[in-house]
Amino acid sequence: MTGPAPRPTRLEQRLGVTLPLLQAGMGGVAGPELCAAVSRAGAGGVLGLYKEPPERIRRLVADTAAQTDRPFGINLVPEVLAPDRCRAQLDTAVGVLPERAFVTFYGLPAPDLLAAAVRAGLPVVVQVGTAPAAGRALEQGADVVVLQGVEAGGHLLGALPALPLLRAVRRDHPDAVLAVAGGIATGADLARAVTEGADGAMAGTLFAAARESEAHPEFKRRIVAATAADTVVTTVFDIGWPNRPHRVLRNATTAPGPRQPARFIATTTAPDGRRLPVPRYSAAVPSIRTEGRIEDMAMYCGDSCERITATEPGAALVDRIRAEYRRALRRTRPEHRRTPRHTRPDPARQEGEVPG
Ligand SMILES: Cc1cc2nc3c(=O)[nH]c(=O)nc-3n(C[C@H](O)[C@H](O)[C@H](O)COP(=O)(O)O)c2cc1C
Repeated sequence: MTGPAPRPTRLEQRLGVTLPLLQAGMGGVAGPELCAAVSRAGAGGVLGLYKEPPERIRRLVADTAAQTDRPFGINLVPEVLAPDRCRAQLDTAVGVLPERAFVTFYGLPAPDLLAAAVRAGLPVVVQVGTAPAAGRALEQGADVVVLQGVEAGGHLLGALPALPLLRAVRRDHPDAVLAVAGGIATGADLARAVTEGADGAMAGTLFAAARESEAHPEFKRRIVAATAADTVVTTVFDIGWPNRPHRVLRNATTAPGPRQPARFIATTTAPDGRRLPVPRYSAAVPSIRTEGRIEDMAMYCGDSCERITATEPGAALVDRIRAEYRRALRRTRPEHRRTPRHTRPDPARQEGEVPG
């Protein structure tokens, strides 16, 4: 029972989703099962393509498209690849994506790459961490800009919390479609962002803990058990993705002190089936394909872990967020209550559950 639908936000209208929530594309974590489960439930599922080669991208997209008739996205991270390899990822993906799909970038892409994505005709979502980068993304044709706050899990693009960043960008771009990333784990968090002027939000940690996520079970268990105080911003996990601070769960590798030797601490299976050693300080996330000292690896995790209390199936998670979002919006924004004023029940009796 979720109650009457609030007016769709511009993010929902632009991407064709029925809840203004995007699941972050997460390399090694967000595969076809998670992306499709989130998409079928009406939110924006996103495939993490990180360093995937073109032939795997074709398979991953086809596998996802076969599991959902609703919109879903792909995620590219231009800063971890040479420009021609990232362009090959984009060209391969747009060649096989259905019309209902969208493209997401982590960080402001080089102008020619962003222009190529815009020319492809699918909606383009760009995640940034500063107001100037948001302005450039919009100027260059991004349909949606995701504003990442410093409370976010994973690599960090800026230094401001999400809501102050949103306010700064909204002031200069009143009509832009803006979402926030960082700090979103409940429907109340999402409603707060929308009430503050966002058209929606993106969440990563929340979905990394979901049942269909390919994160290692020990990593999921630790997200569920953690509070914000268990996370730390560090630069130590720089092998494979240098020069970018990241928020992770504190562990032996993030402990203060001199850098330890970058010995192999785990093995993981590459997209082509080869077993690869994982050195301490690798940026690779522990996934279902990883064996070894999971607890010493890069467990990207946002402050939002504070409110993540279980590993849920993606569909149940999205349904729960939708119900919480509607309930919270009706409390904070009377215009979202569809019931005419004169027939509304006595507010004193509305405590707790809202009728579905
Ligand atoms: C495990 C994990 C992996 C991530 N990997 C990616 C990635 O490959 N590409 C990307 O655009 N963002 C990635 N992110 C960052 C998200 O896009 C987003 O900024 C972040 O998850 C928002 O904060 P939250 O985790 O508190 O929801 C990752 C986040 C996490 C937690």
